[in-house]
Amino acid sequence: MLHRATATKDRPQGWPDYVVPQQWDAFADDDHAVWDLLFARQVELLGARVVTPFLDGIDLLRLSHPGVPDLSELNAILEPRTGWRTVAVTGLVPDDVFFAMLSERVFPVGNFIRKREELDYLEEPDCFHDMFGHIPMLAHHDYADMTRHIGELGSAAIAAGEGHRAARLYWHSVEFGLAKEGGELKILGAGLASSFGESHFSLENGEVERLPFSVGRAVNTPYRHDAFQPRYLVSESLDQTIAEVLALTPERILAL
Ligand SMILES: [Fe+2]
Repeated sequence: MLHRATATKDRPQGWPDYVVPQQWDAFADDDHAVWDLLFARQVELLGARVVTPFLDGIDLLRLSHPGVPDLSELNAILEPRTGWRTVAVTGLVPDDVFFAMLSERVFPVGNFIRKREELDYLEEPDCFHDMFGHIPMLAHHDYADMTRHIGELGSAAIAAGEGHRAARLYWHSVEFGLAKEGGELKILGAGLASSFGESHFSLENGEVERLPFSVGRAVNTPYRHDAFQPRYLVSESLDQTIAEVLALTPERILAL
């Protein structure tokens, strides 16, 4: 998930400075049990409410294997497929670091998982959000390209002092986007796919706004990072989102 920039004078400079060992062996039995609980609950909750490539990605990456996934095992499947790999981080990284990672096909995954007592309350995204929510779609070739492109757009927008434009684009597509598939409304975004409460809310609540997705609307629509979204952008299809985002240039995102 994306976070506000937290630049400080003495912070590390490059994205590799934020990478830490996953220390898979340090996960306790209960951590693995929490993953299994979250995974089973979320798969059942989503059913067919999510775009098909997400479900394909779950299978391809063998995410149903019990326990917190080992990043090295995940990367052994993901990297040969789309060039993406995961790295462990200790928590949210600043926006410029995050977009720099995306532009190099690197996805940061928290090296921790929520506790059993706080299954539905997260102060910041943990490895369940990062892996269950985001990684399945990175096994989809075109979506993987789109996400890399957002990294480039984000880096350029931040350099121009307009980082919020790329943050909004990312938010309304990769995190909280909806998309039609076979005439039905489906979840596309990782923030929805990994959320117990907001997944159904986004599709079924009768009062929330749902507006047609366009990159122009995404770039100019504010979002909430501390509550359910007041509005969702709905693309005509996953392919529409991918095509529109890939066609966006660093110059254009500043002018929309
Ligand atoms: Fe996320």
